[in-house]
Amino acid sequence: MANIINRSVDTVWNWVNERAPGMMPAYRKHMSEYYAPKNFNIWYIFGVLSIVVLVNQILTGIFLTMHFKPSAAEAFASVEYIMRDVEWGWLIRYMHSTGASLFFIVVYLHMFRGMMYGSYKKPRELVWLLGMVIYLVLMAEAFLGYVLPWGQMSYWGAKVIISLFGAIPVIGVGLTEWIMGDYNPGDATLNRFFALHVIALPLVLLLLVVLHIFALHEVGSNNPDGVEIKKGPKGNRWSPNAPADGIPFHPYYTVKDTFYVGFFLILAAFIIFFAPAFGGWFLEHDNFTEANPLVTPAHIKPVWYFTPYYAMLRVVPSFFGIKLWGVLVMFGAIVMLFLLPWLDRSQVKSYRYRGVLSWAMLMMFVVSFLWLAKIGAGPGTDPTEAIIGRVLTFLYFAFFISMPVWTKLDRTKPVPERVTMHD
Ligand code: HEM
Repeated sequence: MANIINRSVDTVWNWVNERAPGMMPAYRKHMSEYYAPKNFNIWYIFGVLSIVVLVNQILTGIFLTMHFKPSAAEAFASVEYIMRDVEWGWLIRYMHSTGASLFFIVVYLHMFRGMMYGSYKKPRELVWLLGMVIYLVLMAEAFLGYVLPWGQMSYWGAKVIISLFGAIPVIGVGLTEWIMGDYNPGDATLNRFFALHVIALPLVLLLLVVLHIFALHEVGSNNPDGVEIKKGPKGNRWSPNAPADGIPFHPYYTVKDTFYVGFFLILAAFIIFFAPAFGGWFLEHDNFTEANPLVTPAHIKPVWYFTPYYAMLRVVPSFFGIKLWGVLVMFGAIVMLFLLPWLDRSQVKSYRYRGVLSWAMLMMFVVSFLWLAKIGAGPGTDPTEAIIGRVLTFLYFAFFISMPVWTKLDRTKPVPERVTMHD
């Protein structure tokens, strides 16, 4: 029996290979002969988890689209219909809404790993830049999605964020109307946001993720030691030309990743089943009320993953009656991340071998980002908090702008020749 199955598989395999001879080499290049450093730790699972969440978003999104009505008159009710009447609709919706927050959790951890191990440094600048473009598109995708259920926060969030463009001199007001297709968020806004959210941006995201991984596989993965395994000795038990410290991605890391994916899915299931709104952090309470242009919610605020930037927008005062500064600071905060590969002048990639100064600066960055996230999630009425917010914004920028200096001043430790294992 096993023989018959094996022979049938071989026949199909050969048939496909004869007609698409490029497929096997591609599989080898990216899977069975992609030699990844053998010292990956848990921080290296967040790339794969991002793919898992992306697939979840696309699959659950397809099913939501089957029942969702993209019109201002029907959107809110259609989401209620999905939640109450569509078979398993509540599960699909919560998998999608919780998935959005999980996406940002894994992507933020993935980015932080890149910062800790200097994965943005030469030769992986392009991998980092493509990652940053993914991050931008992801933020746009999440924002558009949040508008669709047409709850109070969808409406008012859209109004506040789109109105930011109004701060641009001369073209601002026209641009705002162009984006909304109206003077206020309305049917036209919802229609176009739906089109962008369900087809345009997911396609762009998929393409970018493929480019991101191709760009990585050209240069090879970094690792917690920041040692370039391609520059080290050659020859392992699979190939005499492969890096000695590399192991085939498949089956070694596919098996390891599968274990962590299972663990992650259990954790995700707990949240989806027991706390899908996560105390108002993943689904805001105000969004359970239908959009009403005549009633402004007490506190308009975005979902947690945008709040650090939102805090910056709020705490920067308007000088000379010009409100643009907050907007510039907010976008500037993201531009800084793009520039990381060129701001970091350290001889050493990984923070494992960097000195106290680098660690202190990195912690300052983390604290300012998280604290700003907390401030951005609050009502924004406390003047002391606004001052703290300004200091934190200053520290956030100081981390990046002074980076060429402190990365040079830092007393780094000797980097080993080969990767190290910490079992
Ligand atoms: C949809 C979002 C994303 C997906 C699916 C994704 C996927 C991946 C995968 C599968 C890897 C290889 C495995 C790993 O090293 O974890 C990787 C590596 C990497 N990603 Fe992403 N990524 C995403 C977003 C980002 C973002 C936003 C950034 C940063 C701005 C980024 C920066 C990097 C870097 C620098 C590496 C190389 C890490 C190393 O070799 O040490 N990625 N990504």
